[in-house]
Amino acid sequence: MHLACIMDGNGRWATRRHLPRTAGHTAGEENLAEVVRQCVRRDVDWLTVFGFSTENWVRPRREVRHILGLHEKLFGRVAELNELNVRITWIGRPFDDPSARTPRYVQRAIHKAIADTSSNTGMTLTVAFDYGSRAEIVDAARRAKALGRPVTADDLSRAMYLPDMPPVDVVVRTSGERRVSNFLLWQAAGAPIYFSDETWPDFSADDIDAALNLARAHQRS
Ligand code: IPE
Ligand code: IPE
Ligand code: MG
Repeated sequence: MHLACIMDGNGRWATRRHLPRTAGHTAGEENLAEVVRQCVRRDVDWLTVFGFSTENWVRPRREVRHILGLHEKLFGRVAELNELNVRITWIGRPFDDPSARTPRYVQRAIHKAIADTSSNTGMTLTVAFDYGSRAEIVDAARRAKALGRPVTADDLSRAMYLPDMPPVDVVVRTSGERRVSNFLLWQAAGAPIYFSDETWPDFSADDIDAALNLARAHQRS
């Protein structure tokens, strides 16, 4: 089972509580840690989460800096991930791509987390950071074209950032936004979307169960 979450609504969660938006991102990162634990208990094989998009860099500098720090913290949760037998990985614009924006200190945290959890055999947690589906597909198209023959769907699949990522079984989008995002458009083709009205920091175990049930109902039909 591959669950993919668009973690939306952190800002609204904070604004409703008369808190700065950064507090919403902090609460969102903490809830992600809880969602990871809940998914492990439910035998989810792959959990992929949208942490920061290629479009999000235009946000105020202070907010971006706060979100960067939270990703450093998230990729630093190695002891916890090892205890849960979770392998962490990352998806996004390759660091050597001229348009990539991930700063060095976050790159280091990502590399270290991947290395320090690589032997875990349970769930795979993939964090999308500086990620955009369109950029990924454009990149894949360029690489597939370089093969020098008519490009097939399989060629494109193999040229995605993480060719071993299985197809998505259900996409979750929180905070009442009923629309697709620039997230895993290739990998999630045909998957049902579970729209939750909860903001991401309030996304609960019951919501996970509802999303997994939607995925199972879709597989049966
Ligand atoms: C999602 O929450 C987190 C990121 C996009 C980084 P938002 O920050 O988009 O929260 P809203 O949508 O403004 O409430
Ligand atoms: C989606 O949230 C991206 C992430 C959760 C990282 P946004 O708030 O950036 O999405 P749009 O721009 O409203 O679609
Ligand atoms: Mg949003």
